[in-house]
Amino acid sequence: METQKAAAFNHRSVLSRELIAELDILPKSIYLDATTGGGGHSELILAQEENLKLIAIDRDAMAIAAVKVRLAHYYPQQLSFWQGNFASYEPNGLLFTGIIADLGVSSPQLDVAERGFSFRHTAPLDMRMDRSTGITAAEIVNHWQEVALADLIYQYGEERFARRIAKKIVQNRPFKTTTELAEAIAATVPGKYRHGRIHPATRTFQALRIEVNQELKSLEKFIDLAPNWLKPGGKIGIISFHSLEDRIVKHRFRDNELLDVITKKPITAQPDEQRANPRSRSAKLRFAQRKMGVADLKYETEKSDRSASHSSNIADVHHHRTPTSKPRILLD
Ligand SMILES: C[S@@+](CC[C@H](N)C(=O)[O-])C[C@H]1O[C@@H](n2cnc3c(N)ncnc32)[C@H](O)[C@@H]1O
Repeated sequence: METQKAAAFNHRSVLSRELIAELDILPKSIYLDATTGGGGHSELILAQEENLKLIAIDRDAMAIAAVKVRLAHYYPQQLSFWQGNFASYEPNGLLFTGIIADLGVSSPQLDVAERGFSFRHTAPLDMRMDRSTGITAAEIVNHWQEVALADLIYQYGEERFARRIAKKIVQNRPFKTTTELAEAIAATVPGKYRHGRIHPATRTFQALRIEVNQELKSLEKFIDLAPNWLKPGGKIGIISFHSLEDRIVKHRFRDNELLDVITKKPITAQPDEQRANPRSRSAKLRFAQRKMGVADLKYETEKSDRSASHSSNIADVHHHRTPTSKPRILLD
């Protein structure tokens, strides 16, 4: 069952060209993909050099299973996995040349109805990325006090109708399924918002998902810890999808004394990617680099020597080196 789902796991990665170009991948280095998801970015990193190592993290067992099916066979010596929240990861002394995180949910998490992330499919109100731990959305919706619910929907959903939605939820609960909840929310907002650009339940579902998975707190903790896991000169790149996340990335990168910010303004998707993949329209990529100390200059010299002999041309990715049996990697 798990394998069948894993095989069907299909997520379209965003900002791949930009991510790989900025990472400037070096041979004989170790990389960390803190949100491997469908394995798209992980695979691109692995395809850049034959003698690098990648540790792929995800808190979702379904994602880890899918990436194992997709990549473990091709990269048995290079790829290893860790399932859990990236904020709880312990590198045990490893120092990475690059760390990436691509936040939020993957397309399969949204599309597998039983996960309860989407208001488009009827499913129990779950929304946990890691289904082995934590509270579900149903527990929040059916048990929190009205004021706490309104604050949650307002802060994490940036929903202007938070108070009336919270009131309606409390009046009509218990809710069992995603669609029951979505219908109640739709009936609460003024008519002109019911058929607007986004479904009226979008922001409330975002707020519930953030709380269920403690997304912002995990992100804050991760950004505070991860610079310590980088080699001097190593880079960290984070892709976020809404302003609450982007604000955290921007401020914590800027305020971390180990880091220099590389991207003063976030990198966004080019028009061709935005047309091909609407999800990329809200994606923002920020990069920072671990500062060099005097003792680190030796490392920097070695790195530039290696870079000189390393043709890290992104076009290479299209017609990648041997062995040819590996999946072809397209950066569209
Ligand atoms: C947008 S997807 C990543 C897609 C991936 N970059 C790709 O190219 O296929 C986000 C993934 O991050 C995972 N995730 C989100 N928050 C996490 C956290 N705090 N710790 C570990 N994984 C997390 C989700 O389970 C999901 O699989």
